[in-house]
Amino acid sequence: MTDERQHDPGGEAGSPVAEADRRARALGATSTKAHKKRWGQFFSPAALGEFMASLVDLGELDQLGALRILDPGAGTGVLGLSLAARALRDQPGRRVELVAVESEPGARDQLVRSLTVAGRVLGPGFSFSVLSEDVLELGDRPVGRFHLAIANPPYYKLPPSDPRGGDAPNIYARFMEVASELLHPGGALCFVVPRSFASGRYFRRFRTRFHQQMRLRRVHVFDSRTDAFRGDAVLQENIVVVYAKQAGAQHEVIISRSQGLGDLASVSCLRAPSRDVVGDDADAVVSLPTSADELRLLQAVRGWPMVLADLGLQASTGPIVPFRATDYLEHARQRDTLPLLWLQHVSADGVTWPLGQPFRKQEHVRASIGDARLLANRNYVLLRRFSAKEDPKRITAAPHLAKHLECRAFGLENHVNYIHRPGGMSEMEVIGLAALLGSRTIDTYFRICSGNTQVSATELRVLPLPDLGVIHAIAQASRRAGRGQAVAVERIIATSLRDQPRELGRAS
Ligand SMILES: C[S@@+](CC[C@H](N)C(=O)[O-])C[C@H]1O[C@@H](n2cnc3c(N)ncnc32)[C@H](O)[C@@H]1O
Repeated sequence: MTDERQHDPGGEAGSPVAEADRRARALGATSTKAHKKRWGQFFSPAALGEFMASLVDLGELDQLGALRILDPGAGTGVLGLSLAARALRDQPGRRVELVAVESEPGARDQLVRSLTVAGRVLGPGFSFSVLSEDVLELGDRPVGRFHLAIANPPYYKLPPSDPRGGDAPNIYARFMEVASELLHPGGALCFVVPRSFASGRYFRRFRTRFHQQMRLRRVHVFDSRTDAFRGDAVLQENIVVVYAKQAGAQHEVIISRSQGLGDLASVSCLRAPSRDVVGDDADAVVSLPTSADELRLLQAVRGWPMVLADLGLQASTGPIVPFRATDYLEHARQRDTLPLLWLQHVSADGVTWPLGQPFRKQEHVRASIGDARLLANRNYVLLRRFSAKEDPKRITAAPHLAKHLECRAFGLENHVNYIHRPGGMSEMEVIGLAALLGSRTIDTYFRICSGNTQVSATELRVLPLPDLGVIHAIAQASRRAGRGQAVAVERIIATSLRDQPRELGRAS
């Protein structure tokens, strides 16, 4: 560990955070795309640093001795300095020590300069060290424990073969893990990260382990998926999370949301019961309701008594993987071909096959592909597995009724999921379930529980559902033609959700 202050007294006086921000922008303007990608190097603007620093509850921390702050992947130091400056302001007289870790030499050089300037401006209560370590190996270094860790970590996939990977499939989650291990009990971690860790099976092991030690206290959701502080490779929502390590029982998580940094002044906060936000099962999914209405909906849907298995239903993925089945796919109908349904055949308006021109893909599959890769022509609910960001709803579901295709079997490609029952589903079940899954209510529920645009069969299996009586009533309503149909469906869903006995959160 080296204190670099004596070595470089350069830089202008002024706000240390603004100074670090200026250096970051200069660095960002001159480095290449390839360099940024290699290091996951996208810098946080000063406004983000100051906002993140404002979210940490300093009063909860151990008040003795120097306050030690870790900034892993520090860039030019915007985040660590924002938090250090705030701590010095709010706890006058307390010493603050910032340990900034940066392994890329160009950024590290600027980091040393901005911390040197900060040392002069912030006075003797502030000290710092710059480490050139790999953050992923920090656990083995004698760096001591910290009260706070603040970061905008790099983002890229870690191959399973990388021994530094731990439980995390992406470097940003590994940064969270390493930082959490270096905290004192009661210490806090404040990170801006993509929302992807919060749900889905890739991050399941990471989530389970991480939440054994860490309690979520505060979340801010940035709706904009293209904010500059993560670069254009990550088209997902970013969230700021504040976790406390080995903290005692806590009852609520404060959640807020804004479009980006520009509208932070007008955000309102929701206080949600912790048990509604972080699942207490092995999945530890983090759900993010951001208004009292969303929280109420989340609680009410979770109050529904069924899941697919309780109704004797199963969710599976279409068995035909086109690039592995090229010998069997045909553009034109032949004597021995059967219909092949792709994601594009499934829309909110129903299942439409064939699409013909301008659809370019093969809409027919040879029967010789074998029954194991075909579906018997029965009633199913078909669902797109992927939605585009601009799609109005996360779930696109449609009923497939056997009578609409004249064939004994058909092919379903693997971007489509289907819901089925070994003994068959009635038309009413299929119509009602498709309308329920395609409803505004379920769309909102999915958005609260997941930032992903994919809807997996696993997620469908754990989705709470009402009993069959409600599904039949929805089917009746959705058979009605005209624009009133969606309204009638939502009304039935709302009635069945009412009176779910759960404690509600408070908006403030
Ligand atoms: C997304 S940038 C954020 C920089 C800075 N914290 C900010 O918010 O402006 C991530 C930083 O981590 C650094 N970095 C990437 N991998 C690292 C590693 N394994 N160890 C240490 N630093 C790393 C990059 O060079 C980059 O400066």
